[in-house]
Amino acid sequence: MTLPPKMKLLLFLASQTAVFALFILLYSHNFNSLQMKEEPQPAYMHVLILSSWRSGSSFVGQLFGQHPDVFYLMEPAWHVWMTFTQSTAQRLHMAVRDLIRAVFLCDMSVFDAYMKPGPRKQSSLFQWEGSRALCSPPACNIFPRDNIIPQAHCRLLCNQEPFEVVEKACRTYSHVVLKEVRFFKLQVLYPLLRDPSLNLHIVHLVRDPRAVFRSREHTAKELMIDSHIVMGQHLQKLKKEEQPYYAMQVICQSQLEIYKAVQSLPKALRQRYLLVRYEDLVRDPLAQTARMYEYAGLKFLPQLQTWVHNITRGKGMGEHAFHTNARNALNVSQAWRWSLPYEKVSRLQKVCRNTMNLLGYHLVTSQQEQKNLSLNLLSTWSPAEQVYQEG
Ligand SMILES: *[C@@H]1O[C@H](CO)[C@@H](O)[C@H](O)[C@H]1NC(C)=O
Ligand SMILES: *[C@@H]1O[C@H](CO)[C@@H](O)[C@H](O)[C@H]1NC(C)=O
Ligand SMILES: *[C@@H]1O[C@H](CO)[C@@H](O)[C@H](O)[C@H]1NC(C)=O
Repeated sequence: MTLPPKMKLLLFLASQTAVFALFILLYSHNFNSLQMKEEPQPAYMHVLILSSWRSGSSFVGQLFGQHPDVFYLMEPAWHVWMTFTQSTAQRLHMAVRDLIRAVFLCDMSVFDAYMKPGPRKQSSLFQWEGSRALCSPPACNIFPRDNIIPQAHCRLLCNQEPFEVVEKACRTYSHVVLKEVRFFKLQVLYPLLRDPSLNLHIVHLVRDPRAVFRSREHTAKELMIDSHIVMGQHLQKLKKEEQPYYAMQVICQSQLEIYKAVQSLPKALRQRYLLVRYEDLVRDPLAQTARMYEYAGLKFLPQLQTWVHNITRGKGMGEHAFHTNARNALNVSQAWRWSLPYEKVSRLQKVCRNTMNLLGYHLVTSQQEQKNLSLNLLSTWSPAEQVYQEG
């Protein structure tokens, strides 16, 4: 087919325009995607505070939970464990993992499996009042979103909200932070670390096992069901007085294994892990909080700095997380030294020795050493830095 010259010219021009338009389109597309790449990491962040019972994790949870950018829940997997009280930690691992993933993605329908059917309130959630996000809009319209909200006030004024507000609130936050004490292996979390729909970062909070042991003795009744699940099949074989040591052995061993598993991760994944010793936090709350916030991509806002300063100095918040001033908190963290008999300390050190060596908690070899408070038992070696140096 032949075309008149005029027509050919028109077609030529049209095709040039099309190419030009396509070029603009592609170029601007590239330009946009380049720009997006240059922007900081995805705005959303999922932080798992991985800890054990009586290790200061409620306090660390509060440090995150009171931040106005954070939707926080304390121990959501409590619901899994309390549904299967005759089970073992190993058998419940995957259910716990899947629940955590759903909650990170604000899918609260996952609780259907662990709560009574029928209408429920947000107060059906374990320790819901410890979440500032559930005490402020859109969950509860009584307190402003950027206020520090005391748990007691929230429990009183926000306990009638329907369960649906939990999911609704979660979806309005850039950061979801969960504290969990029911993981004993890092391997369980690998799929979540690699999950492209998550931006998972782990804060591994540890505490001197001797202090944990003493604190567990004081809360043995409340911890009974959990402790039975921790001991699992071994429970039947253990004498009653052996049980607390065996539970601690499992806990210490799991901390050791989690730490070691991190060393064998690819470097990119290793940077999603931060080890925090409770004792370091007690000694310098502002600096350690700043370190955790930076890791989680959170601004340490002035009102939060004042708040952390206040609560760790015993000002303003009454019986909040820390209970006492910083000097007392330090003292409390040493309480095992005069309140535990050396026989118990010695026996505990036998089952937790490797973990203590790794985390920088010096062993005591006599009652004199134990009671001598001028003897510092905390190594200045920073395990977290060690992780990065090796990489
Ligand atoms: C800190 O304590 C001071 C003095 O008690 C009090 O006036 C202030 O409101 C407190 N601030 C916060 C954020 O808790
Ligand atoms: C720490 O607490 C113990 C026991 O309550 C007390 O005897 C001791 O004086 C306290 N030390 C400091 C430095 O507060
Ligand atoms: C306590 O420990 C300090 C520091 O190691 C030491 O100088 C002191 O002699 C010890 N006191 C006793 C009574 O053992």
